[in-house]
Amino acid sequence: MKHLLTLLEFSHYEIEQLLHISREFKIRHRVGEIYTPLLPGRVVVLYFEKPSTRTRLSLTSAAVQLGMHPVYTTPAELQIGRGETIHDTVKTVSRYASAVAARVYRHETLEEMARYSSIPVINALSDKHHPLQALADALTLWERLGKLRGLKIAFLGDVANNVATSLTLIGAKLGWEVRLIGPKQLWNYRLVDELREDLVRTGGNVYYSDSINDVGGVDGVYTDVWISMGFEKEAEERRRLLKPYQVNRHVMEIAGKQAIFLHCLPARRGEEVTDEVIDGVQSAVWDQAENRMHTAKAVYSYLLIFSNK
Ligand code: CP
Ligand code: NVA
Repeated sequence: MKHLLTLLEFSHYEIEQLLHISREFKIRHRVGEIYTPLLPGRVVVLYFEKPSTRTRLSLTSAAVQLGMHPVYTTPAELQIGRGETIHDTVKTVSRYASAVAARVYRHETLEEMARYSSIPVINALSDKHHPLQALADALTLWERLGKLRGLKIAFLGDVANNVATSLTLIGAKLGWEVRLIGPKQLWNYRLVDELREDLVRTGGNVYYSDSINDVGGVDGVYTDVWISMGFEKEAEERRRLLKPYQVNRHVMEIAGKQAIFLHCLPARRGEEVTDEVIDGVQSAVWDQAENRMHTAKAVYSYLLIFSNK
């Protein structure tokens, strides 16, 4: 059974396939072929422990456009809220639905789901990974820059968070140079070690830096909130630690005019990014948000038609 928990389940070839399929879906959508009922009558359960705008709505829209029926639910609405285990819940869901997408606090919850599920489990964000976001980011970069391989991307700020990790993972699969720019306390060399094999194979490179000057000459400058969901207790310390890594006009000037600005959203305007950057001509954030839907369609089709027959 193929799941999408981290992106590591997919080879670099499969990631490229997913992105090609996403592009195809996007073109069809743009020319007005709104309804592509590839998966009629299939149910996908969207299980969300945390709030969401883009992930919930893109997974819902993508499902409807493929002819599927999405069912949104939260722990409080299920018996999980009264102590039923993930194990028993996912075994039950597997008897009704064709896929489950889950947004969870602990990544281990997804691993447990995958262990007991007989349908594909899709990570809709965990504390460690956000693979659906990384797919939309890669599609956006491909569209804007005209190539998928060999890009140079700088991520500024919370370099240890889920979005930074998934961006690094997809970068390693696609032979990118990923510069993770943030305070030393957040560097994670274990991640780079885990990616060594992919990096050798694709010619990619991942390195940490604590200097904003290292954004010079990149194709994309990426940032995300300083306080991710579930990390609210550390808010004050994180604001202090990450203040030097705000993406503002100065940072974009160092990066250069060729660089596009990326953010997974939601943004804390004035914190990790200024209004003039997120609303500026280099910003690609709305394309990223749109691409969440096209890539979600590719993920559903890939998991339900191509790889889990
Ligand atoms: N980028 C993203 O996952 O946004 P949501 O939290 O709104 O789903
Ligand atoms: N890093 C953020 C991403 C939100 C889409 C969080 O986990 O809250």
